[in-house]
Amino acid sequence: MSTPLLEVREVGKRFGGVIALSDVSTTVNAGEVTCVLGDNGAGKSTLIKILAGAHPHDAGEYLVEGEPVQLSSPREALDRGIATVFQDLAVVPLMSVWRNFFLGSEPRVGWGPLSMIDRGRAREVTRKALADMGIDLRDVEQPVGTLSGGERQCVAIARAVHFGAKVLILDEPTAALGVKQAGVVLRYVAQARDRGLGVVLITHNPHHAYPVGDRFLLLKRGRSLGCHEKRDITLAELTRQMAGGAELEALEHELRQERVVPRPSSPTLETVPAAPAAPPARPGRS
Ligand SMILES: Nc1ncnc2c1ncn2[C@@H]1O[C@H](COP(=O)(O)OP(=O)(O)O)[C@@H](O)[C@H]1O
Ligand SMILES: [Mg+2]
Repeated sequence: MSTPLLEVREVGKRFGGVIALSDVSTTVNAGEVTCVLGDNGAGKSTLIKILAGAHPHDAGEYLVEGEPVQLSSPREALDRGIATVFQDLAVVPLMSVWRNFFLGSEPRVGWGPLSMIDRGRAREVTRKALADMGIDLRDVEQPVGTLSGGERQCVAIARAVHFGAKVLILDEPTAALGVKQAGVVLRYVAQARDRGLGVVLITHNPHHAYPVGDRFLLLKRGRSLGCHEKRDITLAELTRQMAGGAELEALEHELRQERVVPRPSSPTLETVPAAPAAPPARPGRS
């Protein structure tokens, strides 16, 4: 395997006395999806902010294409080809799709202070970039605010791909979406991967992570529960670990017991429903 695009080794971050992240290791390879899973407060956003240059790490190592780095701003990360789509997306709802696509990097015509945005070309480039990702928008002049949450995510993904990102980091892109829309976004995640980008997908839903992921990093209270290659873990096991393994089993057991109690119990195993008058053998909790 060639050098990973990104790698963290036992990376850590504290905020004053709070250890937000400790001893976390994982890799992001070209053409692969690394999923970061964990409940609220697990440290997912902290890890992403380290990768995206928004927080410097204060323990361990962060390597970009094999080179140890200490990124000090998202701009620096972007210059190294690391694009992040934050949960709020940083789109301007009243601006058109194409303005949001370029956000300050529009193609221009003319020269110096007299130059103007080349609107025709900007629209065409946007339409084509979206079409290349399989996104068919009728009108790139429509305000981004008129798009669905899933479509907005797709525009942000297409923008990162178009501007030559090597790594695409997506913070909970499917969290606020319905089943169908989440599926659409996951399809574009797979497309970005197939175009050779390394993708970091943050989610708390193993059902969203498993179909597209190559590697699964599980975080809990700032610590790693392990990083598994897909061949080493099933969806059922991933779900079990996410839910806290033993804790979930205890809960399941408890729920199963509660279901048994309200049923009218009968000393024999008969399939015919018990007569309504038949009193329960022992008082049930209602
Ligand atoms: N800027 C900060 N200052 C202090 N504590 C923080 C800061 N950011 C995150 N934390 C703490 O670090 C832990 C992990 O948070 P976070 O990375 O946001 O988790 P997640 O994204 O998985 O929900 C939490 O306990 C949170 O309170
Ligand atoms: Mg978060």
